[in-house]
Amino acid sequence: MVKLLEGKRPSDKIKYQVAKEVKKLDVKPKLSVIMVGNNPASEVYVALKHKSCKEVGMTSDEYHLPENTTQEELEKLITKLNTNPAVSGILVQLPLPKNLKTSRIMSLINPAKDVDGFNPVNIGLLTIGDKCLEACTPKGIMLLLEENKIPVEGMHAVLVGKSLIVGKPLMQMLLNRNATVTVCHSKTRDLKSLTSKADILVTAVGKAGLIKSDMVKEGAVVIDVGFSRIPDASTQLGYRIAGDVDFENVKHKCSWITPNPGGVGPMTVAVLLQNTLKAYLMQGGR
Ligand code: GUN
Repeated sequence: MVKLLEGKRPSDKIKYQVAKEVKKLDVKPKLSVIMVGNNPASEVYVALKHKSCKEVGMTSDEYHLPENTTQEELEKLITKLNTNPAVSGILVQLPLPKNLKTSRIMSLINPAKDVDGFNPVNIGLLTIGDKCLEACTPKGIMLLLEENKIPVEGMHAVLVGKSLIVGKPLMQMLLNRNATVTVCHSKTRDLKSLTSKADILVTAVGKAGLIKSDMVKEGAVVIDVGFSRIPDASTQLGYRIAGDVDFENVKHKCSWITPNPGGVGPMTVAVLLQNTLKAYLMQGGR
């Protein structure tokens, strides 16, 4: 019988713990969110991040910059936030407009305020298995596995997608827990031959229905991080959200599967709050 890897309960538990810690603090942790341009999906995510900060008693502010913001302007803002003692965490919502160099921006964020875990210092610390601020979505996936007592050691984890946001940091986290990890991407030949070997299959590419039931091993744990909007006139919004996995057909083969939405998404936000508190404490609190 397949079991659902739902994110709501474990993410509520994390938020409750963060809120309890924040309540004890005189000065509350503050998250500064930078968003450039008007990507509609990013606007939804950013609104959710502010709402979640409020729910746990943290403060947040937003720097919503126009699409034509220059590299220099963005760097100047980050430099200012890096040294502002009132700011505990800095988050630059991705993707950035094409004219901006994401890697340079990530490198500039103060590693102690890097609540996304995308600064090379934090990526390096994760790689050598040391304590650091860890990327929110992959950390959320690891917590989801842990919460449900799903073993990782010795398992063959196959990741579809090698992004900075999910695939690459998740690969490190799984290796640190002694999984055997295969990372697939758009240039991978014969994807099915690899996904069908996975004990744990994680997909994060944003291609609705990419993972079909014949690509999944009997008894696998399937984690769907994909996010696509599919036009659907029968819904109020005119679209529905779809993951990468053909859920209805794949679920019969799995031991565990994430619903999507409702699986990894809530965990990402909960880890962001956890990271903001951690960053605040790392900076010595106030
Ligand atoms: N865009 C999609 N996911 C993320 C994330 O986890 N962090 C940031 N900064 N941008 C994103």
